Amino acid sequence: MNRIALLFALLCINLCISTSLVYAEAAQQTVLITGANRGIGFEFVKQYSDLGYRVIATCRNPAMADELNTFAESHRGVIVEHLDLVDLEGIDALADKYADQPIDVLVNNAALMRGPDKGQTFGTMDYEWFDQWFHTNTRGPLKVSEAFWPNLVASENGIVASLTTGQGRYGIPVLGFAYYKSSKAAIDNLFLDVARKGKKDGVRVITISPGRVATSGEPAGPRMIPIQDSIAGMIRVFARFTLEQNGRSFRHDGSEVTF
Ligand SMILES: NC(=O)c1ccc[n+]([C@@H]2O[C@H](COP(=O)([O-])OP(=O)(O)OC[C@H]3O[C@@H](n4cnc5c(N)ncnc54)[C@H](OP(=O)(O)O)[C@@H]3O)[C@@H](O)[C@H]2O)c1
Repeated sequence: MNRIALLFALLCINLCISTSLVYAEAAQQTVLITGANRGIGFEFVKQYSDLGYRVIATCRNPAMADELNTFAESHRGVIVEHLDLVDLEGIDALADKYADQPIDVLVNNAALMRGPDKGQTFGTMDYEWFDQWFHTNTRGPLKVSEAFWPNLVASENGIVASLTTGQGRYGIPVLGFAYYKSSKAAIDNLFLDVARKGKKDGVRVITISPGRVATSGEPAGPRMIPIQDSIAGMIRVFARFTLEQNGRSFRHDGSEVTF
């Protein structure tokens, strides 16, 4: 091969590499997940990372998030960020850091479910815990969605997905769990308003039930769903969900929750 032909071949290779890099960058989607250090949140991190997303994996205590940090070290697109749902200023500060960057998927996953007052029954209510649950489970996801709304609007097909439960608005009769059930029922209701705004702004808004999944080290019961199946199912539901469906609620298996 003479020198001109060699130069031409090198130029072509260079062009191909830079074009594919630009394409890969342009095509990369971003997901932000709350409560990403364990349980359902961490499984979302792993699966979205496998799908090639840039993952903003947030948690309230990054220094203690050993598994997540180890995962992020070996997966280039995973960024660990501090985000505590009860810290309104902290939420705004993180949103400022990512200002002008589109976010394609926001997963409002983090929540309090158990805690020291396991009973949560009428007659023995602990109102400090009640406030803590509502600040975390209800006010938190609402504030995160508001703070990152411009990022979702900037996406071509953004979606806010908020994790809910069959114990919430549509009242599976589970005794106790008063703070938990009512904070999730409030999420179901509040995100109907968010969905209306989403229809105007081109942001998809869904509430989703993961099914019963063993997290926090509890043994998997017979009617529980493997965590991988639940999260893979929810990701499929998000991908199929349309703007026209805004405000509707689904389960991980794609079935719709009717009220
Ligand atoms: N598992 C189920 O069967 C089931 C069923 C229906 C709905 N859900 C919903 O699915 C979501 C995840 O459930 P899970 O089973 O994975 O729960 P989990 O194992 O108890 O994990 C909860 C996550 O939320 C985080 N979190 C709690 N308070 C926070 C705060 N103030 N700021 C930021 N993060 C906070 C926790 O962080 P720390 O590690 O710092 O505590 C943890 O990462 C929840 O919304 C839950 O209601 C779960």
